[in-house]
Amino acid sequence: MKAAYLTHKAGAEALIFGDQATPAPKAGEVLVRVHATAITPSELDWYPTFHLASGAERPFPIVLGHEFSGVIEALGAEATGFQVGDAVYGLNDWFANGAQAEYVVAPASMLAHKPVTLDHTHAAAVPISALTAWQGLFEKARLQRGEWVLVHGAAGGVGQFVVQLAKQHGAHVIATASAANKAFLQALGADAVIDYRSTRFEKAVSNIEVVFDAVGGETLERSWSVLKPGGRLVTIAASSADSAEPRVHDAFLLVRADGGQLAEIGRRIDSDALRVMTAGAFPLQSVHVAYHHAERGGKQGKVVLEIIHQN
Ligand SMILES: NC(=O)c1ccc[n+]([C@@H]2O[C@H](COP(=O)([O-])OP(=O)(O)OC[C@H]3O[C@@H](n4cnc5c(N)ncnc54)[C@H](OP(=O)(O)O)[C@@H]3O)[C@@H](O)[C@H]2O)c1
Repeated sequence: MKAAYLTHKAGAEALIFGDQATPAPKAGEVLVRVHATAITPSELDWYPTFHLASGAERPFPIVLGHEFSGVIEALGAEATGFQVGDAVYGLNDWFANGAQAEYVVAPASMLAHKPVTLDHTHAAAVPISALTAWQGLFEKARLQRGEWVLVHGAAGGVGQFVVQLAKQHGAHVIATASAANKAFLQALGADAVIDYRSTRFEKAVSNIEVVFDAVGGETLERSWSVLKPGGRLVTIAASSADSAEPRVHDAFLLVRADGGQLAEIGRRIDSDALRVMTAGAFPLQSVHVAYHHAERGGKQGKVVLEIIHQN
């Protein structure tokens, strides 16, 4: 199969487009013919990208891209819930090779049927961002109807879903973003938008029940002061994962695959309750250009790689 892959530990500029062996599904897994996969630039800094779950170094070649949309090509033993030919979207194991390739192997439990109203390109941009928003708001923060939510990084891939899901849940939503994204975020349901470049949010808001932080650093540090007593803070910034400060460590959320949640997210997309934006699509052959685009600021959503199959 064609794939983009790394032959040594390096950045996206070292990705090679070429031929690799097609993977085979093991028990409980499916083989997916990939149509699109979204880029997550920070994946190059993640521990599982260059390690196995055992702690050993991962063998090269390494294929990136753990969220995707495609069609089931083959079922491994005991893989249930899907048929060959089903259009699916979802995640695969962070420690395994990803979907910047014509085929990827994934546990069936990490997939759901693709929303019928989305093409593969848009569907590929949903799993990581929407599951992170869902798990942060509903599992970690236990958001209640009528509460006030402050969303940092609201125009980004994750933030867009946080704004929409929180609003649908009956919360009041304040978003921080660049001024250029104000109208866009209001259209998604934000009640107020703070331009983080011109206004210090802690001067503008207080008594917040839930802060959802997709930015980290000093944005996270300044956020504790706007929480009301008993308020909850969720951060997804990687720098918080191994923080020595217990409250930051406790606030950190690492998204996990969940086919059931993805199915519910898909139902909301198909009923027009959730909108999905991408920041452009590039063919897999143009992977370097795509990463360059993905690493630039000022976008609304994720950059997607499209896989054009020759047969
Ligand atoms: N822990 C997890 O499970 C998990 C899951 C998914 C993502 N993440 C991480 O979460 C972060 C966000 O992901 P994403 O996909 O949403 O990224 P993204 O699409 O690149 O969005 C980031 C957004 O943050 C905005 N921003 C930057 N500085 C800001 C500030 N000081 N205040 C408010 N907004 C600011 C950017 O706006 P401008 O471009 O206008 O500056 C951009 O809209 C990334 O670091 C990603 O690696 C973690």
